Amino acid sequence: MNTQERELEGRVALVTGGSRGIGLAVSRALAEAGARVAVVGRDGAAAEAAAAGLAGEGHAGFACDVADGARVKEVVTEVEERLGPVGVLVNNAGITRDNILLRLDDDAWDTVLAVNLKGAFNTTRAVARSMMKQRDGAIVNVTSVVGLMGNPGQANYAASKAGLVGFTKSVARELASRNVRCNAVAPGFIRTDMTAELNDAQVADLQGRIPLGRLGDPEDVAGLIRFLVGPAARYITGQVIAVDGGMAM
Ligand code: NAI
Repeated sequence: MNTQERELEGRVALVTGGSRGIGLAVSRALAEAGARVAVVGRDGAAAEAAAAGLAGEGHAGFACDVADGARVKEVVTEVEERLGPVGVLVNNAGITRDNILLRLDDDAWDTVLAVNLKGAFNTTRAVARSMMKQRDGAIVNVTSVVGLMGNPGQANYAASKAGLVGFTKSVARELASRNVRCNAVAPGFIRTDMTAELNDAQVADLQGRIPLGRLGDPEDVAGLIRFLVGPAARYITGQVIAVDGGMAM
């Protein structure tokens, strides 16, 4: 694909957790592709600052906890009033609250499921009607290779990410007749705040398990998401694509 092309010109893209890490790289990539981007995040000031830094015009930032379904509805209405109907949704917001199973408390379980899984449900439900009416829409859920492979110390996170895989495939089947596509990307280890706590020994160990021999960058994930929401992927739906340097094959 020619990435100089502005293949998302005229479209509105909503990116959750879009003000830093992978989400910020996605916001940038979609703005470069010509979309007007609604950057949604828990911290409204950070979301507005991120939106102000994107290429082109017409972007905006919104404060929203994706786990709060009522707030998500309000924000989607606001986005539609200010930017127009949402044609692209990237469910990227996610958190970890790691612990070994025997120490994993109810709060760590419930909070991770509420943000990572129910958050994607809240936003997808809020934009689905308008996408179906437009007979055009593209949704990408950011899952994780951990949702496919499991990981000790991350039973809550892995369950939320595996849940997103079933959610993705169900939404893909349900909305396909209205030309609304839904796919998932499964990053491996990507250099962001989420992986910043890894020490040198852990990074060296990981690199040994990654065929391409390095951790990924947020842009590696953003490039795949840009492709998946664009016209070159118009016949792709219900897929889970790993972007992990070959780790999970
Ligand atoms: P990050 O911690 O840098 O960014 C997460 C973003 O989500 C932040 O902007 C944060 O404010 C936002 N967020 C968190 N809870 C929220 C809530 N309740 N409502 C709205 N926004 C919320 O993390 P990173 O690494 O950029 O992760 C992005 C996504 O990629 C997450 O879903 C994560 O699970 C996934 N992922 C990351 C990997 C990595 O190695 N960094 C690997 C696999 C998946």
